[in-house]
Amino acid sequence: MTQLSIVYYSHFRGATERLAQAVARGAAEVPDTDVALIPVDAVDGAWQRLHASDAIVFGTPTYIGGVAARFKEFVEKLAGEVWLERMWVNKVAGGFTVSAGRSGDKLACLQQLATYAAQMGMLWVPVRITGGNYSSAGSEDDLNRMAGYLGVMAQANIDEGPDKAPPPSDIATAELHGHHIAQVTRQFAHGRRQHPADYDRFATSAPRAERAPRTLPELLAE
Ligand SMILES: Cc1cc2nc3c(=O)[nH]c(=O)nc-3n(C[C@H](O)[C@H](O)[C@H](O)COP(=O)(O)O)c2cc1C
Repeated sequence: MTQLSIVYYSHFRGATERLAQAVARGAAEVPDTDVALIPVDAVDGAWQRLHASDAIVFGTPTYIGGVAARFKEFVEKLAGEVWLERMWVNKVAGGFTVSAGRSGDKLACLQQLATYAAQMGMLWVPVRITGGNYSSAGSEDDLNRMAGYLGVMAQANIDEGPDKAPPPSDIATAELHGHHIAQVTRQFAHGRRQHPADYDRFATSAPRAERAPRTLPELLAE
């Protein structure tokens, strides 16, 4: 089995949670894929799962042109042992975001997510299809209607609940991206286990103890 985990934060209207569920559905369609949905609030009970995952997908709403603060709190927990020991090197990564505006500065948010993955040495997977809704023949019903490539860009009207927003085209785009990331993960994880690099010491090792990773101040105090 390959393991794919989705760590996400959703608060205002539950829009990001709907996208996370869509990414999970798409990923679960790929054979031999075990999927876990982890809200950031539950991350401290899920470290073992995250360390053992072949892929970790990041999801956050765009708040004030960037990643939501609570999601960033999770990322800063990585800025110690996980970063220093390169514990997540060569894990597959990807991301999604949603905002009320068509742009809403979602690109800045996805760039931040990709940078977090890069700092951990993870391998970022872009959206595999071209952008939609780019000509007079296009519409809001197109897959990838926001034409995002770095990750899924969804849009949710600020006055609508998660039953309506984001619309079906964005949900389907998130499903497609989850499926693609899981497919790439399956291909890569099998090869990685068969041909681990000499620096790839976490590729085949047993999952680590279930505890929060040590932070930089804790490491420096040892
Ligand atoms: C604190 C806050 C900041 C926001 N900042 C932006 C923004 O910069 N751009 C934008 O288009 N929408 C912004 N929004 C709207 C949210 O991105 C949008 O409602 C999103 O769907 C919320 O996702 P959630 O329901 O999963 O929390 C903001 C909403 C909140 C509550």
